[in-house]
Amino acid sequence: MQATRHLMTRAGHCLRVRARLALTSHLTTTSLPAAQNMCIREVSMGQAVASQHLIRDSGNQDCLGKASVTMHSAAANSTSTMLQVCWAEGGMDLFPYVWLRDNCQCPSCFHPTTLSRKISMEDLNLDIIPTSIQMANGGEMVEIQWLDGHFSTYSANWLHERAFNKASQDRRDCFRRPPQSFWGSELLESLPRASFPELLEDNVALFTFLQQLEVTGLVVVSDTPCCSGQIHQLSKRVGYLMPTHYGETFTVQNKINANNLAYTSSSLDMHSDQPFLTHVPDIQLLHCITQYHGEGGENVLADSYHAGHILVSQHPDKFHILTTTLVDFYDVGLEDGKEYFALDRKPVISVNHEGNIQQVNFNTMVRDSFFMTSADKVAGWYDALSTFYRILKDPQNHIEYKMNEGDIIVFDNTRVLHGRKGYEMAHGDRHLEGGYWEWDQVRSRRRSLQITAH
Ligand code: OGA
Ligand code: ZN
Ligand code: ZN
Repeated sequence: MQATRHLMTRAGHCLRVRARLALTSHLTTTSLPAAQNMCIREVSMGQAVASQHLIRDSGNQDCLGKASVTMHSAAANSTSTMLQVCWAEGGMDLFPYVWLRDNCQCPSCFHPTTLSRKISMEDLNLDIIPTSIQMANGGEMVEIQWLDGHFSTYSANWLHERAFNKASQDRRDCFRRPPQSFWGSELLESLPRASFPELLEDNVALFTFLQQLEVTGLVVVSDTPCCSGQIHQLSKRVGYLMPTHYGETFTVQNKINANNLAYTSSSLDMHSDQPFLTHVPDIQLLHCITQYHGEGGENVLADSYHAGHILVSQHPDKFHILTTTLVDFYDVGLEDGKEYFALDRKPVISVNHEGNIQQVNFNTMVRDSFFMTSADKVAGWYDALSTFYRILKDPQNHIEYKMNEGDIIVFDNTRVLHGRKGYEMAHGDRHLEGGYWEWDQVRSRRRSLQITAH
């Protein structure tokens, strides 16, 4: 166990260095052309549905960027605290001296293969000023001689990408996390799809799939071989599976003495998986190996952020209750001969510092009967939860999809709630294999592909 962890850490480190080298070549050449075009489409999709509160205003992002920029002039600004660059293409940006000195790219300040800053905070003079600022290479570079004797050069492209203005910062944000596009029942007409054989072979297809997963939170992968082990195969292209007390992968089938309601043939109300874990699995994969051929077995899927936006616009008080009341979720049982007792506490709707929904924890099956709130708040909380549930159940706000054998539904587990219609065992078996991914790995892979696969 120790050895494995050690090996994994070392392997992780190697990967990191390789990815960073790819980034270097990108940074010294051009900036994300095709990928950024993709961003534009998603931004405008996001803005089309951004009528409700909570959705970050992406503004008029210029995701095109410029392959190459030059400076018209580079000099001290009027207060002599910043570098003022006027671009040959128009526009002006300011770069504070302390930031420039902190980000000197010379090999003694910045390690060229690890791409890490070598300067210590100890050595950083917060009041540093230049003794000279000189444009070079016809405006492609600026050279700065600092008062402490150090000499730095910065390329126009490098500065332009990092400019302290909204367009540049939005572009970077789009690369960090593309804006989400929220949906209701209309998604069924244009269900995002990918092909399993293509994902295994083609990096552009893999990029498109991962990006779509971030934007829509749901992609149906088709043409997967109908045998177990395929989730492992796909995961090898992305990163690692996230293990839980149900294992690295789990088998969803009607089982005798089931330890989870999913392992029966009963219907499952819409839910997010494993809210009793501190780190709720980010992404879920469900591979349909055998589908139930009678009536039933369909999946029900809802974008709970979309439902949350409806809730906040119609009942802000109820939305507030669901974001501020902490709820316990638990899971007790035996899996593979090992006992488990998972228990965690979180609100049903969790919002980030910007007020955007960042996680929905909705699972009636494993919500605890212990409720750490005051008795007078209980009825109001149930009322808020039931309103949220009614919005989710509105036919306009969810889709029904019966997986074909060979489909894998891949979805954001803390955003896209999933359920299942019950089925009669008499009509044959239904067999799924499930697993989880983490966003950090998925996004990291998407970003690397965004740079290298185009
Ligand atoms: C689950 C689950 C859905 C299905 O295993 O958590 O929700 O279609 N399964 O069986
Ligand atoms: Zn330096
Ligand atoms: Zn589930």
